[in-house]
Amino acid sequence: MFFDDFDGDEQGEDRLVKSTRGEYDAEENALRPKTLDGYVGQSKVKENLTVYMNAAKKRGEALEHVLLYGAPGLGKTTLAHIIANEMGGQLRLTSAPAIERSGDLAAILTNLEEGDVLFIDEIHRLNHSVEEILYSAMEDYALDIIVGKGPSARNIRFSLKKFTLIGATTRAGMIANPLRDRFGIVCRLEMYTPAELEEIVTRSAKTLNIAIDADAAREISTRSRGTPRIANRLLKRVRDFSTVNGNPSVTKADAQYALARMEIDELGLDETDRNLLRAMIEKFDGKPVGLDTLAATVNEDAGTIEDVYEPYLLQLGFIARTPRGRIILRGGYEHLGYKISEAQKKQISMFDKDEN
Ligand SMILES: Nc1ncnc2c1ncn2[C@@H]1O[C@H](COP(=O)(O)OP(=O)(O)O)[C@@H](O)[C@H]1O
Ligand SMILES: [Mg+2]
Repeated sequence: MFFDDFDGDEQGEDRLVKSTRGEYDAEENALRPKTLDGYVGQSKVKENLTVYMNAAKKRGEALEHVLLYGAPGLGKTTLAHIIANEMGGQLRLTSAPAIERSGDLAAILTNLEEGDVLFIDEIHRLNHSVEEILYSAMEDYALDIIVGKGPSARNIRFSLKKFTLIGATTRAGMIANPLRDRFGIVCRLEMYTPAELEEIVTRSAKTLNIAIDADAAREISTRSRGTPRIANRLLKRVRDFSTVNGNPSVTKADAQYALARMEIDELGLDETDRNLLRAMIEKFDGKPVGLDTLAATVNEDAGTIEDVYEPYLLQLGFIARTPRGRIILRGGYEHLGYKISEAQKKQISMFDKDEN
């Protein structure tokens, strides 16, 4: 049931900038900062967590349950490791899809020690019967189990050690209210600024013994879609290119060459991002289009589009979500070099307040 590490989304492993665990698990773990101080960015989250953790420690209690949400690769799993580390508890990692029956979860819960941290990745994917077990576990540190069937069935309550649950999700909106309400602490992870990513790339290069010029690190950081996992991955790929070219240190030119070979543009968009935008212009003429239709058109999984591609395109302001579907905005046309027709302009102005 437990994984050394588990990262949610497993679709589309072939995509380079995709934020999933790939072939570099061990290395990814090596790159995780171990303390809150080493965790770059996310200052609001860090400040608040510091207060909550210190208060819990002072009272000698377990930290309240924590819900972490944010796009893949923003540092949810890393933060769970850090919290367990700072609180001095054991971290137990699992993921919702791995917990098939309520008995599976009961087994996990009864094995927890005082102060342990249970991390459930992709917590929005828990099935209902499993989720119900979690309610009393979170609220009362108790496990309610029904023994027997029919009229002779009875409820037995076991008490659990005081633990902290950390749930991670890419879809806060898919978590049922009763579950969400049981988290005392909710943290939303933001995309990272290029300066923060540069710091991460520089540190990772040190850890991995990669010599890299500062402007090469900057080049990578501006093309990493605000996502540390992508920054680390690009660093390793860029290193490969400069190794093959026999350069002792990664230069900006190496980085640019490598990124061009990987078809990652100045903003970090890859072929699939561009296909998405292109389809919205050419196939749907700039009109709103539903997620599933769009997914089918570009031959991608709808969930992957929603979790991996959309957040960054939304952040760039290239697309918008409307009640009638996704729509491409001015920046999206311009990035791909399209001229915007009058009809398309009208579509944009219907949905983009800034256009009026
Ligand atoms: N704030 C951060 N500072 C430094 N490195 C980070 C940070 N957040 C994430 N990383 C790096 O990015 C990688 C992916 O982070 P992870 O926690 O696995 O993301 P998530 O669980 O949200 O998908 C990790 O290997 C880690 O090295
Ligand atoms: Mg993770």
